[in-house]
Amino acid sequence: IVVLVSGGGTNLQALIDAEKRGDIKYGKITCVISSKEGAYALKRAEQNGIKTRVLPRKSFADSLSYSKAVLTALNEEMADLVVLAGFMTILDEIVTKAYPYRIINVHPALIPAFCGVGYYGLKVHEAVLDYGVKITGATVHFVNEKADAGAIILQGTVSVEADDTPEILQKRVMEQAEWNLLPEAVSLFCEDRIEIRDGKAYVIEKQEEI
Ligand code: GAR
Repeated sequence: IVVLVSGGGTNLQALIDAEKRGDIKYGKITCVISSKEGAYALKRAEQNGIKTRVLPRKSFADSLSYSKAVLTALNEEMADLVVLAGFMTILDEIVTKAYPYRIINVHPALIPAFCGVGYYGLKVHEAVLDYGVKITGATVHFVNEKADAGAIILQGTVSVEADDTPEILQKRVMEQAEWNLLPEAVSLFCEDRIEIRDGKAYVIEKQEEI
C-alpha cells in the first residue's frame, strides 16, 4: 500500500494504527509520498519506520508533469493499492488509468454533495455550514478521471450542530467517520471483498467460518 498525503496525516495515522492492531490483514503500508515538504504526515511515517518520499507539487509546472512523476514513483514502489489520505492535488488520468479501481480516496462529505474541484479540506466544511445542511459525513471511493466521482465504497453520516465552526465540524467528521471508514475500506480491498458491477462498488459480505 502506498499512501499519498499533503498535510497533518491523521488519516494516515488511522491506517497505521489499524495495520498495527491487525485490522488490515492482507495489506502493508510500504511507502508514504507527500506533495508538501515538511508535512507532519511524513513524521508519522518516519516514526513508524515507513519509507517516505517527497514530490513537491510546487516544483512542477502543471498537473500532467506532476502526475507523470507520481506515476513513476508508484511504479517504482510497486504499489498494489494507492490511498489518497488528505492528498490535496488532483491527479491526471495518466495515473487513474494506470491504476483502475486501485486508488482509494477519503472525502470529508457525503458525495455527491460538497465535492469536486475546489472542495477540499476545511473548504468542504465551510460549504456545508454555509448551506445549512443538518447531516454531513465522509465518503471513501475509488478514484477515476473525474474529481470525487469514482465508485463509492463506504459512507458514514455525521450530525451538524448549530454552533459548529468549520474546524469543529472537521474534527467530528474525522473522529466519527473518516478514521473508521478509510481503514475499513482498505481492509476490504486487501481481503478482495469489493466487487465492481456497472461501475459501482459493492462490499461482499464475509462468509461464515465453519
Ligand atoms: C481530511 O479531512 C480529508 O478527508 C480531506 O483533508 C483532510 C486531511 O486530513 N481530504 C480532502 O479534502 C481531499 N479532497 P489529514 O491530513 O489529517 O488526514
